[in-house]
Amino acid sequence: MDKTTVYDRSSELQAALSAERQQGRTIGFVPTMGALHQGHLALVERAMNECDTVVVSIFVNPTQFNNPTDLEKYPRMLQNDIDLLDSLSPVMVFAPEYEEVYPEGEHFLGIDLNGLDEVLEGKFRPGHFQGVVHVVRNLFRIVHPDKAYFGLKDFQQVAIIKHMVKVMRLPVEIVECPTSRDENGLALSSRNLRLSEDEKEDALIIPRTLFKAKESVEGHTPAEVKELAINYFGQGELELEYLEIVDGNTLKPLGDNWSDNVVCCIAAFCGPVRLIDNLRLV
Ligand code: PAJ
Repeated sequence: MDKTTVYDRSSELQAALSAERQQGRTIGFVPTMGALHQGHLALVERAMNECDTVVVSIFVNPTQFNNPTDLEKYPRMLQNDIDLLDSLSPVMVFAPEYEEVYPEGEHFLGIDLNGLDEVLEGKFRPGHFQGVVHVVRNLFRIVHPDKAYFGLKDFQQVAIIKHMVKVMRLPVEIVECPTSRDENGLALSSRNLRLSEDEKEDALIIPRTLFKAKESVEGHTPAEVKELAINYFGQGELELEYLEIVDGNTLKPLGDNWSDNVVCCIAAFCGPVRLIDNLRLV
């Protein structure tokens, strides 16, 4: 493979991948919904460092959108994405139509996510994580990667994918990658494209609150840090949907005691644009 190749058919991608595998090459996979930014590219670069062949999927997955306007407004810029990937080493891009990912007549019954989908994002986006596990499972069935790369920006998504891989006994290693931020601390997101410069400034209350929460751990309980962080967030312009301090493994909220893996998670609206971010506190 000597240049970026774009596949829109799963059968063609699979034929190319089986040739790679026959040469003993390992396959790394980075699933995305496109509108690529440096955060995605960091995942791709990590995959390139750790695997011989890298597949990047670009597919805006309708089943994970619970809000039709959000789906409609989701940025789509395939050629720009391909150009960005071209600036790295060669990758295989998989940019399928709906039918390639969701075969006609397929029945997906969903999987028991052990309550991981009932908190945080799951509470506000019913069905979202079943849509995510459905598409990721289907993509894994097409690509059969040795390793798949996910960003901790979507911390709950990583926890749920790891759970899915465990209960479905899928032979893939999930690699967690740190959140990429811009120079002011705003987590990079395809949705940031919908923000004006002023809104981007307003959105900085999200990372500032997270870092404030982290600074406040010493001498406070999780419940106290939560209250303090919500008050701090209230000084900004955004509309808070939730701010929770949870155990990083169970995703359950913490009250009086810290555990050894604690994450603060925020979802908020900046105008019509919904943003999420999180930071490990402990
Ligand atoms: P998308 O939002 O395009 O993100 C693709 C991958 O990039 C995810 O693993 C996400 O966590 C990661 N990512 C996004 N912004 C990041 C940042 N600032 N720093 C680090 N990683 C970042 O997540 C999805 O798509 C979809 O749910 C998908 C898994 C592709 C299933 O449709």
